[in-house]
Amino acid sequence: MRGRAKPWAVPYLQEHTELVYPTIEEGNAFLLQSPVYLEIGMGKGDFLIGLCQKQQGNYLGLERDLSILATAAKKIESLELPNVRLVGGDFDDLFPSLAHYRFDKIYLNFSDPWPKKRHAKRRLTYHERLKTIASLLNDGGRIIMKTDNPILYAFTLEEIPLAGLTIEESTDDYVFDDANDAMSEYEARFRGLGQNIHRIVIKR
Ligand SMILES: C[S@@+](CC[C@H](N)C(=O)[O-])C[C@H]1O[C@@H](n2cnc3c(N)ncnc32)[C@H](O)[C@@H]1O
Repeated sequence: MRGRAKPWAVPYLQEHTELVYPTIEEGNAFLLQSPVYLEIGMGKGDFLIGLCQKQQGNYLGLERDLSILATAAKKIESLELPNVRLVGGDFDDLFPSLAHYRFDKIYLNFSDPWPKKRHAKRRLTYHERLKTIASLLNDGGRIIMKTDNPILYAFTLEEIPLAGLTIEESTDDYVFDDANDAMSEYEARFRGLGQNIHRIVIKR
C-alpha cells in the first residue's frame, strides 16, 4: 500500500502525540500492561480498530507510511478508542525501542509480498526478521500472518523453521472467524474479489 503524500499528515501526527508516539520510550505504562498486541504494517487501521472493539487489551499499530498512518490516526481519534496507540516508522528501525516490551500477539496482515526473488530479504517473514519479530513475543505469544499471496505464504512456511519457530496452524483457505478476528482493508478487498485468504499461526 502506498499512500498519496498528504501535506496535513505530519503536522497532524505531531499534534496528536497522545495517540501517535513520536518515539517509543522505555517504561511506557501503556505497553507494559497485559495483554498487549502489535500489528506491523497496519495500513489504515481497520484491523486494529475492529479487534480492539471486540477484545480487551492494548493495541500498538506500526506503519512506515506516514500519510497512511495519519489516516488511521484520524479514524481512531474520531472513534475515541482508549486502547490504541500508533507509531510511525519502519519495523527494522523501531525494533530496538520495541525490544523493551513483550507482546501477546503480533499481527502481520497482508504484508508487502516483494514478488522478485532477489528482494526476498525485504519480506517481513524473511527468517532473520521473523526471528527478530518473535523475540518480541511473551511466553505463549503468537505471530499471526494473513496474506492473499500464495508465494509469500509458501515462502513464510519455509522460513518459519529456519527462524527456529514452529507452525501451529496454517491454511490456504481461511474461514473468517468473526467472533475472534477482525478484517483489514486488504482482507476485505481480496475477499470481495473472491480470493482465498492464507493464514499462519506461528509459535516459538
Ligand atoms: C499491503 S499493505 C496492508 C495494510 C494492512 N495491514 C491491511 O491488511 O489492509 C502493507 C502495509 O505495511 C506497511 N509496511 C510494509 N513493510 C513495513 C515495515 N517494514 N515497517 C512498517 N510498515 C511496513 C506498508 O507501508 C503498508 O501500509
